[in-house]
Amino acid sequence: ILALLACIAGGYLSGTIPFGLLLGYVFGLGDIRKIGSGNIGATNALRTGNKAMAALTLLGDVLKGTVPVALALAILGPVYAAVAGVAAFLGHLFPVWLGFKGGKGVATYLGVLLGIAPIGVVVFAIIWLSVAYLTRFSSLAALLATLIVPIAYYVLDYHTAALLTAILTVVVYIRHHANIRRLLSGSEPKIGAKTT
Ligand code: G3P
Repeated sequence: ILALLACIAGGYLSGTIPFGLLLGYVFGLGDIRKIGSGNIGATNALRTGNKAMAALTLLGDVLKGTVPVALALAILGPVYAAVAGVAAFLGHLFPVWLGFKGGKGVATYLGVLLGIAPIGVVVFAIIWLSVAYLTRFSSLAALLATLIVPIAYYVLDYHTAALLTAILTVVVYIRHHANIRRLLSGSEPKIGAKTT
């Protein structure tokens, strides 16, 4: 039970680090919640026009999912790793430091895949990059990638990872409700489009 609590607390705390927000200040760009979609993720960080800052946001938000999962996997095993992954993902979505108003979870989802079973990263990357290249919609790329990943894990016989990512995918969809509405109404901004 102590090990389980450590996974929940460690994963959650790691997930709460708001890299986009912190790096926005580090780079002198101010509060990124005041621009674009208001989200603290890499897609919105890119709307500042600073690609390095957006790339570091992506890296930080990925690794804060990977590190607790990889640690839990190495020390305690796959079920604990899954718990740490859910905790990190929820930490990103509901960070105590920001009044529980966090991000949409896509980068941290990717980080969890990397820690649990890296084949999922390959599936995610192929779909995300193809959809983003073809449509220029980050949200649509994320929605399709997170839809296919649990199915791919299931087909490839990674049953724990399939169950874990299926749950996370449902949360990603709920979190993207505004993006889904904008996609359907044709008003979702494309990648790199600067908005204020
Ligand atoms: O990964 C987040 C992305 O899917 C949407 O971000 O800022 O366009 O709402 P945003």
